[in-house]
Amino acid sequence: VSRLWRSLSFRLAVAYAGLLCLSTAVLFGVYYWLSVERPLDEIRVRVSREAQVLAQVYIADGEAALVTALNRRAHDTTGRRAFHAFLAPDGKLVTGNLPSWPEQPSSGWLSLEADVYRDGDELDFSALARDRVFPDGARLIVGRDAEDVEDVQEIVQVALPWVTGLTLLFGCLGGFFMSRAIGRRLDAISATARQVIGGDLGGRIATEGRGDDFDRLVETLNLMLSRNQELFEAVRRVSDSVAHELRTPLARLLAQLERLGENDGDGEARRSAREAALAEAQRLNGIFDALLRISRIEGGRHNAAMRPVDLAVLARDACELYAPAAQARGIELALDIASGAMARADPDLLFQALTNLVDNALKYTPEGGRITIAVDREAGKAVVSVSDDGVGLQPGEAERIAERFFRGADTRGAPGEGLGLSLVSAIVALHNGRLRFIDNRPGLRAGIALDIARP
Ligand SMILES: Nc1ncnc2c1ncn2[C@@H]1O[C@H](COP(=O)(O)OP(=O)(O)O)[C@@H](O)[C@H]1O
Ligand SMILES: [Mg+2]
Repeated sequence: VSRLWRSLSFRLAVAYAGLLCLSTAVLFGVYYWLSVERPLDEIRVRVSREAQVLAQVYIADGEAALVTALNRRAHDTTGRRAFHAFLAPDGKLVTGNLPSWPEQPSSGWLSLEADVYRDGDELDFSALARDRVFPDGARLIVGRDAEDVEDVQEIVQVALPWVTGLTLLFGCLGGFFMSRAIGRRLDAISATARQVIGGDLGGRIATEGRGDDFDRLVETLNLMLSRNQELFEAVRRVSDSVAHELRTPLARLLAQLERLGENDGDGEARRSAREAALAEAQRLNGIFDALLRISRIEGGRHNAAMRPVDLAVLARDACELYAPAAQARGIELALDIASGAMARADPDLLFQALTNLVDNALKYTPEGGRITIAVDREAGKAVVSVSDDGVGLQPGEAERIAERFFRGADTRGAPGEGLGLSLVSAIVALHNGRLRFIDNRPGLRAGIALDIARP
């Protein structure tokens, strides 16, 4: 029972049934009071007063005065029909229009049948009457018609058990259906949650398509599940590719170390094997460093020092840094500052991203090419971009080149691990910016769009 009681839908059902019963009872009570109790009370007050006045007339003025008063009252047609019976001390009826009355006088309220026959018709009346016996033994019964009110009272009394029963029935039925409707939708949510916990990340909660609160909740939850699935799959992809990519260098390192063990005689071969192993280990170390950096930046664990940064200055510095390398390869490195643009950024991280782009452009542009570092404003954003006229991308590569370890088909010969653009992408995401790769025909244009710093 306590388990049942802890269920919200059950408590709602009980509350619903209870409220329905309570409101029906209140409505019924008010109706009874207005249409039965109050009119009956009015009649009782009136009859009591009249009985007192008439008794006073008898005591003070005697029988004849009373009879006159009674007859006048009986013929007064305003208001409810008046009834009376006056019996002399010897029990004989002196005057009256009541067809019958109890033998024995009583002190409470009487409800007397007082049907009237006129022109062959029977008119139903019921007198609410007071009975009084005088010290001399005379008896006076006065009343007024309460037939209509008593009819209502009777109807109400007949209806009461039905209304009670139907209210309980509808309350329970309504509560049952309500709790079932809520319970069903809650069950759908927890069933899907269990499915997802059980490992099926693709599980989604079905909506009823009514656009109600539950549907909106379900939509939000489904969105959360989709996002979690994406994140989870991204994490799995990354760890898969990390494991995959590290196997080759590790195997190479192992082979070199084994060769080192075999070649214990020849000093020169030993030295070169040792150097190769060291270089491989350093490369592995570099990969791990880069991976850690990327995930620190992606996880927001890097303490970025955001401040307004002049992109023109940044571009100029990068240009200076790479001028010797470009010259050595016979590539023209140009600067194109269309308009100064201040961006909110961490200057060190942004510079790292920019140099990674320039580094790629140099790597993937043949001798005699041209590279341009440009700064401009586009659509309310500050944009720094690196364009080259090199090999460019194959179709479909633009979406993937920022993935960890991804390297294009045309570029297998060039040195690198395929982590440079992953770092750029992580840095741009940390800045809430956008990284875009556009076909430069020929070559590639890589652009970083950032929010303009408000001074
Ligand atoms: N300027 C560019 N021109 C042509 N291809 C590029 C350019 N920049 C990047 N790419 C492609 O994107 C891939 C990933 O780049 P990146 O992450 O920097 O790795 P890496 O430089 O180690 O190859 C590169 O292997 C290359 O195929
Ligand atoms: Mg690179």
